[in-house]
Amino acid sequence: MIDLKSEAEVNRMRAACTAAARVLQDLSSLVVPGVSTAGLDAAARGLMTRHGCESACHGYVVGRLTYPGYVCISVNDEIVHGIGAPDRIIRDGDLVSLDVVVRREGFIGDNARTIVVGNAPAEALALCRDTENALHAGIAAVKPGNRVGDISAAIQAALSPQGYGIVRDFVGHGVGRQMHEEPQIPNFGKAGTGPKLLAGMALAIEPMVNLGTHKIIMAADGWTARTADGKVSAHFEHTVLVTEKGAEILTLP
Ligand code: MF3
Ligand code: CO
Repeated sequence: MIDLKSEAEVNRMRAACTAAARVLQDLSSLVVPGVSTAGLDAAARGLMTRHGCESACHGYVVGRLTYPGYVCISVNDEIVHGIGAPDRIIRDGDLVSLDVVVRREGFIGDNARTIVVGNAPAEALALCRDTENALHAGIAAVKPGNRVGDISAAIQAALSPQGYGIVRDFVGHGVGRQMHEEPQIPNFGKAGTGPKLLAGMALAIEPMVNLGTHKIIMAADGWTARTADGKVSAHFEHTVLVTEKGAEILTLP
């Protein structure tokens, strides 16, 4: 069953998502050459306190693993779930994906973006632009009566002409009291398939797109997913609410 949020719950989702967006916005401005990813993680912790929320990633358990960071920081060929480290220094030309998931008043806000540091190759800039556009194509497919597959197909259609590798091993998801609720929202698929969208659903839509192959490799830390061919990856995410009129983007600062 896909959870439908009541008006009171929607207001708490709005508060959590606004906080998540503000943390992401403030953190983005700190991504400059010379900073370590551990430094960014520590800064994120402080920003969450300032914006009245806490990390939903810190202490998150999957199987026998516990996530140690406060945000996910994934650099260049890292796709998602990278962990801040003191010896990982941001350099000019890096692509830095920040994934900020917070809890406030018992509800989750989830958003992500890839930042291009300084001067990067044109193909890396295009990858980021195209991934963000694909996110918005997916959001545009959100309306009551449409299906999850319409979101997936819209994202895929926005990306296919460029020949990118659309990540298959990680997908978007419902969100609410839990970080991951039903339904799963793949970034590829067939229009007209999957669960029907209804007003009151909250969805985290998050295309992860690789310059080369879609295939991934898991790092020894058990969290960090990287591209199998070492080429760069981009990730953009918003939490949206399904309304009678369409999607309301909740993760705006
Ligand atoms: N936005 C990511 C996701 O939906 C956040 C993961 S937090 C972690 O999977 F703790 F699991 F890393
Ligand atoms: Co997410």
